[in-house]
Amino acid sequence: MTRTRVLIVDRDEPEPDLIAEAAVVLSRGGLVAFATETVYGLGAVATNADAVRGIFQAKGRPSNNPLIVHAADVDHARRYAARWDDRAESLARRFWPGPLTLVVPRTASIPDVVAAGGPTVGVRVPAPTVARRLIERVGLPLAAPSANRSNRISPTLAEHVAADLDGRVDLILDSGPTAVGLESTVLDLTAEPPRVLRPGPITADELSAALGVAVESGPVATDPGRLASPGMLPVHYAPKTRALRVPTVAELVAVDWPERAGLIAFEPLPEGSIPDRVVRFVLPDPVVAARELYRALHDLDARGLDLIVAVEPPAGAAWDAPRDRLRRATTPHR
Ligand code: TXA
Ligand code: MG
Repeated sequence: MTRTRVLIVDRDEPEPDLIAEAAVVLSRGGLVAFATETVYGLGAVATNADAVRGIFQAKGRPSNNPLIVHAADVDHARRYAARWDDRAESLARRFWPGPLTLVVPRTASIPDVVAAGGPTVGVRVPAPTVARRLIERVGLPLAAPSANRSNRISPTLAEHVAADLDGRVDLILDSGPTAVGLESTVLDLTAEPPRVLRPGPITADELSAALGVAVESGPVATDPGRLASPGMLPVHYAPKTRALRVPTVAELVAVDWPERAGLIAFEPLPEGSIPDRVVRFVLPDPVVAARELYRALHDLDARGLDLIVAVEPPAGAAWDAPRDRLRRATTPHR
């Protein structure tokens, strides 16, 4: 594949000719990266098994990790579910378009490669106009994982996609930074009770309140060939730079800082807790932290530092998704 083309598209009123151009690439089996509200996705037509295989190849993704299918609206998504019960309907009506993926039994029109051979499919309706216009124009749902090489940090800017996947995908639609910044919550509706497989912007408590039933969290043991949700592997999303985490800002004094180092923290730093030379991102609000975490990691990683240190986010459900992603991107200090 030659160099990837980048088209800059208006986030609120996407130019119809640019959407049409991207739709043609997809309809011919190509790969197009586009922004969702969470992170940039790497899209292919979900019903085209060959095109979807191209996603796995471009990312270097293991074939046992299923992809999320993006639909234009609730009715569109429902067509690809072999069972769509009241729970699915009420969550879809309440949270879509939005950062919630529902795992439901799949129909035969979803190829095995999308589902990693399993009986279910993860579906969601993304919020941005660009994403929904694109799906509408293609007329078919788009399978799209995050648009990064496997095990790298997810992209929240088109520049992140280009840096990671240039020459490996056909087209990038650049509509600016993503609004939410962390991947969708993945909820398994085939489990009883429903189970959050990946924490995200919509918390288990919100889902539980909407459903009126308890919602569990965390992976369940399944057959070893097929991961319940590989996003739940302990290390994922890793930067290239050595990255450690400490539990609290008080522990920062124990760090042996190299000359070139960076820090990410989620509360103000006590005076004199780190050397002045350390490049720092302090993100004390959970919404800002979600939006900026990957950008901060990409930024620090691109500087060629010798060490990145992160302080774990404070307790509380609002911090669950940032805490989860940060834990996957770092290893404990000592
Ligand atoms: O916000 C997001 O979800 C982004 C944007 C692009 O939509 N996508 C994303 O895709 O994060 P990806 O492939 O990086 O992560 C998908 C997660 C993985 O943990 C995968 O195992 C899980 O969703 N998943 C997908 N389909 C599933 C299924 N049928 N059963 C269980 N888990 C599934
Ligand atoms: Mg991913």
